[in-house]
Amino acid sequence: MIVMPGPASLELGGRIAEKLGFDSNPVDHRIFPDGESYVRLTAPVEGETVVVVQTTFPNPDRGVVQLLLMVRAAKDLGAERVVCVVPYLAYSRQDKRFREGEALSLDTVVALLDDAGGDDLIVVDVHNEESLERLQEKTSLGIVNLSAMPLLAGHLKGLGFEGAYSLSPDEGAKHLADAAARVLGGGSGFFEKIRDRKTGEIEMAVKDIDLGGKDAVVFDDIISSGGTTAAAVRGLKNQGAKRVAAACAHGLFMGGAEERIRDAGTDLILSTDTVLTSLSRVTVAGLIADHLDKI
Ligand code: R5P
Repeated sequence: MIVMPGPASLELGGRIAEKLGFDSNPVDHRIFPDGESYVRLTAPVEGETVVVVQTTFPNPDRGVVQLLLMVRAAKDLGAERVVCVVPYLAYSRQDKRFREGEALSLDTVVALLDDAGGDDLIVVDVHNEESLERLQEKTSLGIVNLSAMPLLAGHLKGLGFEGAYSLSPDEGAKHLADAAARVLGGGSGFFEKIRDRKTGEIEMAVKDIDLGGKDAVVFDDIISSGGTTAAAVRGLKNQGAKRVAAACAHGLFMGGAEERIRDAGTDLILSTDTVLTSLSRVTVAGLIADHLDKI
């Protein structure tokens, strides 16, 4: 197996290779003056299973193009199987036509990976698992969605959050809070969130739960502007929660998100290294390596 970290996942790819006991073979890359990406594979791949590790942040478009270049190059050069590890899969929130005429962005990215020669796609806490299940029927890629929620919950348990109430910002993400609650104990629930598709503004209707004096944690797949998490944290504090933590798989933390969540009264913010930031407290390297080990 050849583990090949792309430009956006040099550290995580290296950690995955280390966990598997293989060398890491990062691609050689540069950006031309006109903005185009150049990549060159640095290990022979003929007849090998090649694991391309490339997240798609902070520049989603560039991340996707570099990923496609790597996958296609590996296949062209004779790799037997190309496993695409995309810890944070950009475009996964545009998985439907919310308004007439919109592009189906997730479908497009998955189809491109398939066309480029990918055999497997491994992602972490994709925005909507049902979309991937739907796409599984339209692609020859073997798609697997891993969850970092038990790891985040385990980290919080180590920080004294055992017994905390686990909460997701909406019903669609309740499986995230449920997975965390299996580690933390303390039960799980969700907020009702209404987002205006045009303005992006969020309203949260807090459900009826007695949190008086109890710790609580908001679990989400993505924190982007931080608006959703801040509203959830504020709701929990208003309901009398003692300590409130905010945890997510993919911490994009755009434009003052961290400050927005802190201002809402959170006691702790943490994410994983699918997107590496100063708040990445948990690594998904072991989670991904364990799965790769099986294949
Ligand atoms: C959307 O439904 C996602 O699960 C997240 O809740 C959302 O992307 C977070 O975005 P923001 O941080 O901008 O509120």
